[in-house]
Amino acid sequence: MKISVIGCGYLGAVHAASMAQLGHDVVGVDVDVAKVEALASGSAPIFEPGLEDLLRAGAASGRLAFSTDAAAVRGARVHFVAVGTPQRRGENAADLTYVDAAVEGLLPHLRPGDLVVGKSTVPVGTAARLQARLDEAGSGATLAWNPEFLREGFAVQDTISPDRLVYGVPPGRRGEEARALLDEVYADAIGRDTPLIVTDFATAELVKVAANAFLATKISFINAMAEIADAAGGDVTALADAIGHDARIGRRFLNAGIGFGGGCLPKDIRAFAARAEELGRGESTAFLKEVDAINLRRRQQMVDMVVESLGGVVYQKKVAVLGLAFKPESDDVRDSPALDVAVRLNGLGAHVVATDPAAIPNSLRMHPQLGFATDTLDALRGADAVVLVTEWPEYRALDPVAVGGLVSAKLVLDGRNVLDAGAWRAAGWTYRGMGRP
Ligand code: UDX
Repeated sequence: MKISVIGCGYLGAVHAASMAQLGHDVVGVDVDVAKVEALASGSAPIFEPGLEDLLRAGAASGRLAFSTDAAAVRGARVHFVAVGTPQRRGENAADLTYVDAAVEGLLPHLRPGDLVVGKSTVPVGTAARLQARLDEAGSGATLAWNPEFLREGFAVQDTISPDRLVYGVPPGRRGEEARALLDEVYADAIGRDTPLIVTDFATAELVKVAANAFLATKISFINAMAEIADAAGGDVTALADAIGHDARIGRRFLNAGIGFGGGCLPKDIRAFAARAEELGRGESTAFLKEVDAINLRRRQQMVDMVVESLGGVVYQKKVAVLGLAFKPESDDVRDSPALDVAVRLNGLGAHVVATDPAAIPNSLRMHPQLGFATDTLDALRGADAVVLVTEWPEYRALDPVAVGGLVSAKLVLDGRNVLDAGAWRAAGWTYRGMGRP
């Protein structure tokens, strides 16, 4: 099937490449010339395992092309809208400028019977508004909402073999046709057991924000428990293991530390709460403000722990910061708690030397005032404190005996609770985690 994908950022680039991999004839459209050129030459503008292989395979097969020309979508039967919905400046609500522009840009090129499929995360009510716009313009096209649940670092895998599919479709015959087209698009992505939920627009839009709100709540819950464990002298990691054995709770997303960041969870919970307020249901999502507040204060708690461990003064102390990305296997520093901790320590006058396997270029662009080292051992050399803030496998695997000889003081602060406290202490280090005795 011929498919177009509007927006070639994180979501769109992965979606376009994955659809070509599934055998479709795909064109990705974006206004950013540099991005389109990079993608067309098989180079991924983002760090995402497996993406470059798909881009190259797609180009070689002739099934994947990229363009800055909106008219390139002509002839496609299904058009995915995968543009960003960032937080509005100075507000919590989502900015729908790019979604609206994508639909307006499609209008002159649509044929009756085409399907426009929203993948962006939007405030509930957007799909109904966009369907009305397609109708009012006389496009004859139908809209469907098909939220995306991909995780950075696993984006290709999550797109090619999703753990569930959700289609929000209009009622009646149009909805049935939309469903049939989406089934055809995903025919090779879904196993026989892949759950498929076909529902209305509002539910499909809500599924996405509800999932992210739940995940954010789970993380802030365990971080709140970490605060109590710190005050009471308990160990939040043992607590998480113990409650996680209850299948109703589950162990995943119960890792306490400096909290969540990235391009989705923080902005999505804020936009969800803002939309709920518009709907007169602010009280239903009031708890999300608390989830956000718990999450944000973890960063300062980490900084306070560093300051306290260094005897109250960090000025001119050398602090090795391990990690900048908001999570491992990503170069993304959007709302990254790790980068935020580095910036706050720098603001206190510490001599920060930060390192990360992938996220130094993005961090440097935003915060050139920080010190960076591409080599982990260079970052550690002469450090008065080592602060682990993104749990990359190479930091988890550090040998406390071997690196003990590099630092000025054997002080390690584990913002992700991933190091073996016993092993580090046995090697003569002072170890402190978050919510661990
Ligand atoms: C998230 C959702 O998981 C995904 O389904 C949605 O489509 C987009 O948003 P992503 O932003 O890629 O995906 O990251 P995720 O793996 O969810 O991690 C988010 C943040 O939470 C990271 O900063 C991570 O470090 C943090 N986190 C995660 C914790 O602090 N503790 C945990 O137990 C899990």
